[in-house]
Amino acid sequence: MILTFASSKGGVGKSTTCAAVAAALALEGARVLIIDLDQNRTLARWSRRGVIEGLTVAAVETQKFGGFFRDSEASGAYDHICIDLPGTREVTLFKALARSDLVIIPAQASEPDLREALVVVGDIRDVSDTTGRQIPYRLLLTKIFPLRSRVTDFAYAELARNGLPLFRTALVERSAYREMFLNGQPPTVTEPEKGAGAEITALIAEMRAIVNGPAELLKAG
Ligand SMILES: Nc1ncnc2c1ncn2[C@@H]1O[C@H](COP(=O)(O)OP(=O)(O)OP(=O)(O)O)[C@@H](O)[C@H]1O
Ligand SMILES: [Mg+2]
Repeated sequence: MILTFASSKGGVGKSTTCAAVAAALALEGARVLIIDLDQNRTLARWSRRGVIEGLTVAAVETQKFGGFFRDSEASGAYDHICIDLPGTREVTLFKALARSDLVIIPAQASEPDLREALVVVGDIRDVSDTTGRQIPYRLLLTKIFPLRSRVTDFAYAELARNGLPLFRTALVERSAYREMFLNGQPPTVTEPEKGAGAEITALIAEMRAIVNGPAELLKAG
């Protein structure tokens, strides 16, 4: 799968989700490449904290992205490519969208985040129109409170009102996601069967169903 983590808003959980998903896929035995396009190099630094077999993290200059992506895909060396974008709206966003099997738009359950998410959705629709290919996308609620609150209810209502597709899995505010950047361990290792690990496993099952069709969900049980 070619997965792009995009949002024009900073700090919503793009890099966290990208790292957790990519690491989980690699730990299942897949060969996974993360392309870190953020000049902060969050994920390139994270990858130096611990080696995960099968996972490669490449920090790529924005102007070299096209060529790097083409070479990586053509090499046949990877089963999945995960693209972590910066929280800005620039040309690599559009280049990455055009190549994606699925775009993940993390957003916190707040009005400004949902508004920014809508901007990315507009960009995806534009790229779909220009390339003539439907690009699947889903919003992902992140850092939500464990109990449903008025804020999350507002978010769900807004999403429904705007007809925006949403992952059923939402990522709760959990220390396992923060610890990941301290100890290098992804949530599927620190909390394999519950909490953050269970969320990431469920999220990946949904991603597979979207990219490969619903039969995948049945296979995953
Ligand atoms: N579900 C979560 N629970 C707890 N903390 C989280 C969660 N998701 C992200 N965080 C924390 O929130 C902060 C921002 O997350 P992250 O760096 O993934 O956002 P980002 O969208 O990549 O930001 P940027 O646009 O700056 O690259 C980090 O400190 C991260 O540890
Ligand atoms: Mg980031």
